[in-house]
Amino acid sequence: MATVRNKNNACVWVMVLAFSGLAVSFVFDGWGEERETHQVVVIAPDFYSKLPVRQPRLEATLVLGDYTYRCNTCHQHLKPSQVQKSAVSAHPEILLNHGVNNYCATCHDREDREKLVDINGEKVSFAQSQVTCLQCHGPIYRDWEKGVHGRMNDYWDKRRGEVRKLTCVACHDPHDPAFKPMVPSPAPQRLGRLDGSVTPIAKEFDDDH
Ligand code: HEC
Ligand code: HEC
Ligand code: HEC
Ligand code: HEC
Repeated sequence: MATVRNKNNACVWVMVLAFSGLAVSFVFDGWGEERETHQVVVIAPDFYSKLPVRQPRLEATLVLGDYTYRCNTCHQHLKPSQVQKSAVSAHPEILLNHGVNNYCATCHDREDREKLVDINGEKVSFAQSQVTCLQCHGPIYRDWEKGVHGRMNDYWDKRRGEVRKLTCVACHDPHDPAFKPMVPSPAPQRLGRLDGSVTPIAKEFDDDH
């Protein structure tokens, strides 16, 4: 019985010595090659920003210099134009580039400039501007309603918070609606080494593709 215990003790001591030796060698970095790692490329915050590409105008106001006017501050004194216009000198920043949809009054109410219009000529508030788009973009509007076109923000799980749906004009300028090109985000980092050689895993991937 005693001899067995002695044998165990010896075994424990050998292991303690071996592991201590290993620990010391790890601390002093005894062997192995130095492994250089890639510099992590910091991605510009724009790429993961939740902000829409444009700030939609939700109120019927016009900013001129330092002042913000309600549309009807001027328009209550102006007779609505009897001819259809595609550009007006009073609003030089508005250049319609919307295909054959080239008249202000397809979207803006003729009499009340603080309102937009739907397909029946009913007034629509600036905050509900997607209803004006519905006049001509039915299928896309339907997709947008279902969440297929456009983007949802915040929560999918309604118990945790609200879902916020971006409106059409958060992505499309109503006057020049083509979605502007965006710079793509940088490619994912490869499992490569600094000297350009690749690791076995990355090589296997390259060979397979
Ligand atoms: C500082 C004064 C001013 C303000 C504020 C203003 N407008 Fe105008 N707007 C004009 C003038 C002047 C015209 C040209 C009228 C004309 O040619 O008969 C015009 C023309 C227009 C037209 C072209 C149709 C037409 O009847 O000629 C539209 C549409 C329009 N404005 C929309 C708006 C909207 C929407 C707002 C608010 C977001 C706004 N305007 C605010 C001065 C103003
Ligand atoms: C396709 C529909 C559509 C047409 C056509 C259109 N507008 Fe607009 N307009 C909108 C909507 C929607 C808004 C408010 C939403 C926004 O700007 O984000 C707006 C906003 C405006 C504003 C105030 C916002 C700003 O940009 O300062 C003015 C002024 C204006 N429109 C004038 C005009 C004039 C003038 C024409 C004709 C030359 C015209 N619009 C044609 C839909 C339209
Ligand atoms: C009166 C009909 C009409 C209304 C209202 C209208 N559109 Fe359009 N839209 C068109 C037509 C026509 C085209 C096709 C233009 C072309 O390809 O020449 C178009 C094209 C577009 C395009 C594609 C542009 C491109 O070149 O890729 C977008 C995006 C768009 N509209 C967004 C909107 C939004 C947002 C609204 C509401 C603010 C709106 N439209 C309201 C008629 C309309
Ligand atoms: C979150 C942003 C976003 C929202 C919100 C959004 N769109 Fe778009 N839309 C896009 C993008 C991105 C494209 C694709 C542009 C491209 O392919 O060049 C597009 C394309 C389009 C086109 C052109 C489709 C084609 O087949 O060429 C139309 C028309 C359009 N959108 C209308 C709308 C309307 C109407 C709404 C609201 C009911 C809306 N969009 C809401 C981002 C958006």
